[in-house]
Amino acid sequence: MPAESHYDAITSIAEFYDATLVYQERKDIEFYVAEARASGGPVLELGCGTGRVLLPTARAGIQITGLDASANMLARCRAKLDAEPEPVRARASLVRGDLAAFDLGRQFALITIPFRPFQHLLTVEQQLGCLRSARRHLAPRGRLIFDVFHVDPSSVYEKAWMEEKEDAPASRLADGRVVRRTVRIAAFHRAAQINDVEFCWYVTHTNGRREEIRWRTALRYAYRFELEHLLARTGYAVVALYGDVNRAPYSDDSPDMIFVAEAAAA
Ligand SMILES: C[S@@+](CC[C@H](N)C(=O)[O-])C[C@H]1O[C@@H](n2cnc3c(N)ncnc32)[C@H](O)[C@@H]1O
Repeated sequence: MPAESHYDAITSIAEFYDATLVYQERKDIEFYVAEARASGGPVLELGCGTGRVLLPTARAGIQITGLDASANMLARCRAKLDAEPEPVRARASLVRGDLAAFDLGRQFALITIPFRPFQHLLTVEQQLGCLRSARRHLAPRGRLIFDVFHVDPSSVYEKAWMEEKEDAPASRLADGRVVRRTVRIAAFHRAAQINDVEFCWYVTHTNGRREEIRWRTALRYAYRFELEHLLARTGYAVVALYGDVNRAPYSDDSPDMIFVAEAAAA
């Protein structure tokens, strides 16, 4: 069982996550579902969260296992799965675990890490642990695909990011609460390549009570060749590096780095 996840520090975080418009509008689902289809499955999604990508993958007819450290995120994913038709439910399974060190005792045609969970691994040991664990779970010719944000060195220490900015307009939760969210960088740790990110949810309850819920998470950023070296150290060959979910080649202005890697020939 993984240690307590910081995603569980706030009870409503999974609901807030699903209500966040910028997450609902992310265009990566089509990309990951297409890759899942091309692989034929089974797929292992590391850091599956509330099932934003996992559910559409299962609906597309692919067997998928989701691993996540957060009991709350998994519980919400489970509740959403329970509302799906039986064939979709039968194709999906969930497991609580640490993506830095896991052993499921089986192999997968595709392992994915959609929407940045890899950046929650704050040390090289954790990054290596994740890549090595994934490598052991890859079937012959299986692929690992993950995305991280493309760091713009000129904005790594941009003080303007320390001011709160609304990044998710107001939305209503199922129980009637209305939430809007702001985000800011609370601290830059350039030597460690980590930014502390603080989210604040401004919640208005149905009785008019107002509440501010602040939550911090840390994200490690990595550069292209650093990730290529990590992949080489852990037995992968990079077969593609995309700059966005439309498979544009990675370039100076790309928003993302999306690595597609296979087990390297011995
Ligand atoms: C930004 S969410 C992405 C969720 C999902 N992949 C998506 O695309 O919506 C990051 C997820 O990574 C999970 N996570 C963070 N660190 C983890 C760890 N060490 N092991 C497993 N899951 C982790 C969190 O619990 C959270 O659900």
